[in-house]
Order: sequence, then C-alpha cells, then structure tokens
Amino acid sequence: MIERVEKPTRAWVIHPHLKLRPKEGSAGEAGEESGRRRMPESALREAIGLAEALGLAVAGAEIVRLARIRPGHLFGRGTLDRIGRRLAEEEVDLVLIDGPVSPIQQRNLEREWQVKLLDRTGLILEIFADRARTREGVLQVELAALEYQKTRLVRSWTHLERQRGGLGFVGGPGETQIEADRRALREAITRIRRQLGKVRRTRTLHRVARRKVPWPIVALVGYTNAGKSTLFNRLTGAEVAAEDMLFATLDPTMRAVRLPREGGSAREVILSDTVGFISDLPHELVAAFRATLEEVTEADVILHVRDISHPESEAQAADVERILAELGIGTGDGRPVIELWNKIDRLAPEERAQVENRAARRGNAVPISALTGEGMAAVTAAIDAALARDMREAEIRLDHGDGARRAWLHAQGVVEEERFGKAGPVLKVRWTEAQARRFARLAGKGGAEPARPRGQGGGPRCASSAASAAGPSAEPIGEGPSSDR
Ligand code: GTP
Repeated sequence: MIERVEKPTRAWVIHPHLKLRPKEGSAGEAGEESGRRRMPESALREAIGLAEALGLAVAGAEIVRLARIRPGHLFGRGTLDRIGRRLAEEEVDLVLIDGPVSPIQQRNLEREWQVKLLDRTGLILEIFADRARTREGVLQVELAALEYQKTRLVRSWTHLERQRGGLGFVGGPGETQIEADRRALREAITRIRRQLGKVRRTRTLHRVARRKVPWPIVALVGYTNAGKSTLFNRLTGAEVAAEDMLFATLDPTMRAVRLPREGGSAREVILSDTVGFISDLPHELVAAFRATLEEVTEADVILHVRDISHPESEAQAADVERILAELGIGTGDGRPVIELWNKIDRLAPEERAQVENRAARRGNAVPISALTGEGMAAVTAAIDAALARDMREAEIRLDHGDGARRAWLHAQGVVEEERFGKAGPVLKVRWTEAQARRFARLAGKGGAEPARPRGQGGGPRCASSAASAAGPSAEPIGEGPSSDR
C-alpha cells in the first residue's frame, strides 16, 4: 500500500439510479424512480453530505442510471471503463456507492478500479462510529460493523484507518489477515454481545432512576440536519455541538427546561435530543439506531423537527414517521406529535407566507427558525397545550407510607384534588398516558413492571416499599401541588 498518511482521502460518490421499466412508469414521470421516492439528485447530495461528515474530500460525484443491476460488477462494461478512467485521472482513493453492494460486487469493483469501496451501510456505520458517545452506542455500532464485516472478507486498505483512527471499519485489516481473523471476528462478536448485556443492565438502572425524574419528557426527533441540536441549544441555552454535519448527535442528550410562566404552565420538562434519521437505514443498523432512541419511547410529547426549506421535506418527514413506526413509536399510539417546520428564515417571503398558512391550517405544525429564534414562544406554548390536551382523569389511592409516589404526582403537576381517607391519601389526577405508564412503573420492583391500567377505584395496592427505596421524592421539585393548571 502506498503511504499517504497526511493527505485527506479523495472520494468519489456514485448514486446508482435504477430506471423503471417502461410498463411500470404509468403513474409517475416515465422512466423515473423505482421504489424510492427521492429524486436522484437529492439522494446524491445527501450522500455527498454523509461523505463530508466523515471528513472525506469529495473529488466528484455522479448519478449512474442503470437499466438493471449486474450481479458481478453492479455496472455494465462501458460504465465500468468510463468510471475507471475518471477515478484514475482524479486520483481517487475511495468510492462510495450510495446503495447496497454485495460482497462480490464490492470485491470485483475494488479490483477493477483499484480503489477502496464502501456502500451505504458501510458509510453510515462509519458515521455512527464517529458519533457514538455512550458505551452502548459504541458497542452497538461495533457489533453492527462486525456483523457486516463477517460477510465482507476482502479488505486491502489501511489508509483511512490510519488517518482517522476511528472504528477502522472503512480501512480494516488486509485480506490474508482477515482470513486468519475469521474466528477472532466471531469471538469479538460474542465478547461485544456480552458487554452489551452488561451495559444494558446498568442502563436499566439509569432508566429507572430517570423515570423517577418527575417531569414530562419531550423528545426531539427529525431527519438528519433538520436542526434538532440548534433548537435544543436554543431552548435549553446549552452548548451541544451543532455542526453543519450530518449526524452531529448520535446519543440522546437530555436537559431540563422550564416552560414560560406568562401564558403558560411554568412547568418543567425534560428535553431530549436524538440522532438524526436517515432514509434507507440499513437493516443491520436499526438496533444501533434504536439504542439511541430510548428517550423517544419514553416521551410524553414528540417534537418532529423538519427542515421545511429542504426540497424533499415531505419525503424526509415520511421517512421519519416510518422509522418511528418501525421502532414502535408510531403516531397512532395517541402520543402528541408536534411538527416544527424549521429554517423558515431560508424561505423567500412569499414561500414563507405559504408555509405559515399551511402550518396554521394543519394545527399541529409550528413554523420556526432555530437559528434566529423565531417561533420559540409558539413551540413552548404548543408543548404546554399538548401536555394539557388528551389528558385523562384518574383517582389514585395511596397507602399512608407512600410519600414517594405522592410526591412524584405532585411534582408532575397532575394532582387536581387530594383528600385523606382512612387508608391513606386519595388523589384525583389529570395526566397523560405516558405519565400514567411511568407512575405504574414506579410501583413495580425496580421500576421494570409493565404499565397497568390505573385509577379506577382500587388504586395501587402493591406495597409501597419497592417504590420508595430510592424514591423520587429525594429531589423535591418545590412546585406547589395542582397550582399549574
Ligand atoms: P443531526 O445531528 O445530523 O441529526 O442534525 P440536527 O438535526 O441536530 O441539525 P443541526 O442542529 O446540527 O443543524 C444542521 C445545520 O442546519 C447547521 O448548520 C445549523 O446551523 C443549520 N440550521 C439549524 N436550524 C436552522 C434554521 O432555523 N435556519 C437556518 N438557516 N439554518 C439552520
């Protein structure tokens, strides 16, 4: 291998675009998309963004239209030769194919073009590896990388690995070495699985502790680069790195925010930032991705941040919704989802007026600019309203010794009435589904019990000792009961 340690890796990005066979094109523009809704130009731009997020120098990019996929080399002979010449002229080190490439195609193309080749899964894995912050995030990515690597035994590139010192997956060891390392790979997978198990157990403890944090959770989700971190910073006043890079956040970041007092409830919520979503998330990566989205499954309100200035904003939104549904966090579960139409500052005045009208008609959409701060009051008002809406009433009967859970209820600001019966306090509460679920878990041993319907007559009968051991009341919130509604 040639030593060029200091030079940035020159990459060439290819978006293979399968043309529809004539008969199938009846409904849309003839000859366009086969299954993917995205325009190839947009897909290519996104792939370039991903490459740049990895610190690669993109020497060139192109859409290659294909009538069909060739099993051996993906492309036909003419295309192979043409691209090969360009790659040599441009001294390209790495080719990114924005789509799936079989191990055989990868090996053949690497030999044909004398470059290192990475497909979309490999690329996203590299980015996840770069961005993973928590122990579990890192392990999940390593696991996904190893699983992926198992099928790809041809590795003859070490340049990028030395340069970036990251996961090293882009680079990987040499061919003979990896043959020899086959078993080591399997062992590594087993080892990581074991570690993951351990991390998960620890994390469960953290989660239990977090559930006891008596504030509603508001989770930010959105397509990569939509502006989640920027909004998070604006709402929390925190310095979470916002970069003009895809996937600036892989692991959720959480912070408490107090909603405004004037015209609002002044209640405190936990705001949680998450990793950006992306279309065609490779299957192998769903688990790694899911590990980063735990806060969303726990959330009371979901804020879906959209880059409304992006030409494919609709398609991106549909992707986000689909991935959420795959993760079992569909909008059908009754949880409030507020769309934040971000980057309105980038729109021309007439476009902006249109967007604002559309948002007003939709009802659950708020036009904002996280950059300039426009619309922030509307965001907090919408969170407040969502928390107040869809609430249901319940009556909770507690035992005398159940101070911890009583304090939790008060701190949530859900108590409307309280009287003291013979057996203990009886509280009338108005709360969200998510709050009811969290409360139910407080009752369980270690907080891991599934949610149970609550509030009809009987009240929680289980012994209060399990809940109170490390109870939430350890950190009183200091908000007066039922004063905020
Ligand atoms: P991922 O971590 O990739 O998921 O990105 P993200 O959604 O957290 O996006 P981030 O906040 O990092 O913003 C991406 C880019 O968009 C940055 O360059 C921001 O400065 C820019 N940006 C965010 N909000 C706005 C906005 O309201 N207007 C404009 N013009 N740019 C914005």
